[in-house]
Amino acid sequence: MSQNAPEASAVLHPRRVRSFVLREGRITPAQAQALERLWPQYGVGLDSAGDVQARFVRPAPLVLEIGFGNGEATLWRAQRDPERNYLGIEVHRPGVGRLMRRAEAEGVDNLRVARCDGVEFLAAMPAQSIDTCIIEFPDPWTKKRHHKRRLIRPDFLTLLTGKLMHGGRLQLATDWADYAEHMLAVCGEAPGLANAAGDGYAPRPDSRPPTHFEQRGIARGHDVFDLDFRRV
Ligand SMILES: C[S@@+](CC[C@H](N)C(=O)[O-])C[C@H]1O[C@@H](n2cnc3c(N)ncnc32)[C@H](O)[C@@H]1O
Repeated sequence: MSQNAPEASAVLHPRRVRSFVLREGRITPAQAQALERLWPQYGVGLDSAGDVQARFVRPAPLVLEIGFGNGEATLWRAQRDPERNYLGIEVHRPGVGRLMRRAEAEGVDNLRVARCDGVEFLAAMPAQSIDTCIIEFPDPWTKKRHHKRRLIRPDFLTLLTGKLMHGGRLQLATDWADYAEHMLAVCGEAPGLANAAGDGYAPRPDSRPPTHFEQRGIARGHDVFDLDFRRV
């Protein structure tokens, strides 16, 4: 698939419905300062999406995470998996500032951060450039009239599948049962994706520490559903 494949046009329509609402929220002075100071080292602009590997210390298989929130899980994975490069994408400024501060403090050099719409960034990436894509606890948009905002949709999967390497992996998790069912159905029907767990949910992956939103879901009495698909 080329970068401007027709399949991407629906998901990238200028007036498309986005999967987030940008709320500034509270940003600490340290996070705001980190956004300025650490961006040259850790930040990846949309204009670099065509050659993400050049922004890392060395080329390595790329793990892309969309919607990392506070970034704890992203940092945890990058630290334990130095053989791969980690790129986290998040629209929420405090989370981006926080993750860059933590990466600097821990001396993690296989982690980079983009602060933009992950869909737009993905569209600008070359075909077959991603080893693994992780999307954990995407906003559930629980009201029926908001379901169109859910990130995991057929048009998004078409875009993503073209960017995954053959054999590449898509890992999803949610604590909302109806979103999990929807994910399983649309991933199951997506051309080029196969369920590595047979026809149901996958076991909880070792690659995830308990995330903020996972813990919140469990505290509410929700079950957690994991999905593990491969690019075939
Ligand atoms: C419910 S939170 C989950 C955060 C984290 N993965 C966790 O498990 O704690 C979803 C996050 O996805 C981000 N998000 C939603 N749509 C996005 C998009 N298109 N691009 C980048 N980030 C997005 C939101 O800003 C939010 O921080």
